[in-house]
Amino acid sequence: MTNNILYSIKDLSKSFSQSNKKVTALRNVTLDINRGDFISIQGPTGGGKSTLLQMLGGLEKPTSGMISLDQDDLEKLGEAKLTNVRAKKVGFIFQNYNLIPTLTALENVQIALVPLGIKKLESERRALAALESVALSDRANHFPSELSGGQQQRVAIARALVKNPEVILADEPTGNLDEETRDQIIDLLVNLNKESGITIMLVTHDSNVAKRANKNLHISNGVVTTRS
Ligand SMILES: Nc1ncnc2c1ncn2[C@@H]1O[C@H](COP(=O)(O)OP(=O)(O)OP(=O)(O)O)[C@@H](O)[C@H]1O
Ligand SMILES: [Mg+2]
Repeated sequence: MTNNILYSIKDLSKSFSQSNKKVTALRNVTLDINRGDFISIQGPTGGGKSTLLQMLGGLEKPTSGMISLDQDDLEKLGEAKLTNVRAKKVGFIFQNYNLIPTLTALENVQIALVPLGIKKLESERRALAALESVALSDRANHFPSELSGGQQQRVAIARALVKNPEVILADEPTGNLDEETRDQIIDLLVNLNKESGITIMLVTHDSNVAKRANKNLHISNGVVTTRS
């Protein structure tokens, strides 16, 4: 069933050099991620969680080892091809939402379609549908400063979704939210995973969030272990 595998990661290591000092963020990680998985990633600060997401999203290259997404060996791709893979297949969600303050909610979602060369009307239609799927169509013309934190995160989810990505990579997406809003955001992600089968990798410090995932990974000092 190899076509069920979305990511195949073999012996992947990543180190950074900082003023003559080498910091190893990931050590010999070997892992398969199946399509439709909802995986939580927990572990102490500095353990390598965000670094792993950056590898999965093709934002950083490994120092050694292999990581493939579908048929693409990410460690071998040039910058232009990597950008293309990211634009088509990967939706990112961050703790601080990362919306552009001078753009409306609708325009913030449309941004994700720009690299795909989608025409204006079609892009508007898809962005509105994405906002609708996070129950925010009535806020399409609001700017981020006119939205609550939970609403901003829903716009960010719409921006990640609008391209129909293979995977959503979320780095502490509920870290700034109160418990009720946190649960709404996680419910939304759980439903997306169940209904659309979209693969989700979610970094969290919150065990209540982690237990909503189907699989749980732990990363400490660059070493990944599976917890069930
Ligand atoms: N660009 C970089 N340059 C140098 N060192 C880096 C860089 N990015 C990460 N590191 C180092 O790699 C290690 C892992 O960092 P990472 O950001 O992946 O941790 P994390 O598990 O996400 O932590 P947190 O829970 O605090 O977000 C840390 O020691 C960090 O200092
Ligand atoms: Mg981090």
